Amino acid sequence: MSVQTPPAKKANTNIPAAPPTMAQQADRHMLYQESVQNSEFELDFIDETFEAITGRKATVMREDFCGTAISSVEWIQRREENTAIGVDFDREVLDWGRKHNVSQLSDEQKMRLELIEADVLDVKTQKVDVVQAYNFSYWFFQERATMLRYFKQVRESLVDDGALFLDMFGGSECYQTQKEKRKMDGFKYIWEQAEFNAITNELKCHIHFHFPDKSKMKKAFTYVWRVWGARELREILLEAGYSDATVYRQKFDDKTDEALDEYIATDEAEDYACWLGYIVARR
Ligand SMILES: C[S@@+](CC[C@H](N)C(=O)[O-])C[C@H]1O[C@@H](n2cnc3c(N)ncnc32)[C@H](O)[C@@H]1O
Repeated sequence: MSVQTPPAKKANTNIPAAPPTMAQQADRHMLYQESVQNSEFELDFIDETFEAITGRKATVMREDFCGTAISSVEWIQRREENTAIGVDFDREVLDWGRKHNVSQLSDEQKMRLELIEADVLDVKTQKVDVVQAYNFSYWFFQERATMLRYFKQVRESLVDDGALFLDMFGGSECYQTQKEKRKMDGFKYIWEQAEFNAITNELKCHIHFHFPDKSKMKKAFTYVWRVWGARELREILLEAGYSDATVYRQKFDDKTDEALDEYIATDEAEDYACWLGYIVARR
């Protein structure tokens, strides 16, 4: 028996195509760089802390999970003796970084930068002064054994007085679902903690971008992390062979409780709803 199918409708060619929305025209990596990253502040922290703990300036930096490699590019621009290696296993984001960020460098500066497409768990590089793993990307590693392997792997790549710089967050709010909106220049940044598993500490997060024309770029980025605690991370770092692992916690204004752009080495933290910090592990 033959099945009758309705005749195909002819496309109405008189309807003008809708102009693209702001979301359709936007570039998610550009929006990410504008809303999430503050490489200048992060590199200042690395510079000042490294000099304070070693008595010298760092010159050779490796940026793990480098994404668009903006931090490596800015490191190169900082001082003419600086060199950088960026590592990421995603070719698409590395290519974007080459096109938009590395292209800002002069030929001489480009010679001081190497981008490697590889898994940070396996990569072998020259010895470096500093490895930075920022934006919580090392929280992709959910098993303790994998985290230990990563920390050991990084330690092998550090010079004798080298250091690993990690960022982290803590406080009651990181163990719950929530949304946080921030107004940026020309768009809104939305951080969504969409799912949290209170047994495994697995947190699923999305970044969305909203635009003035009401268009939305939903789930521009999605991450599934384990929320690690400072204490357990320090224990793993020491087990990996690091001589010291210090937490630098964000300071809060005594009167207003407002978070400040200042980080102090301390083991003290009140019951903050949310705090940001760094862990600096010396080889
Ligand atoms: C949240 S982005 C971080 C970008 C940048 N470091 C920052 O501070 O904003 C995470 C990046 O880590 C990369 N990534 C995740 N796991 C990786 C792994 N095992 N090895 C190398 N890159 C990895 C992803 O491709 C992605 O570009």
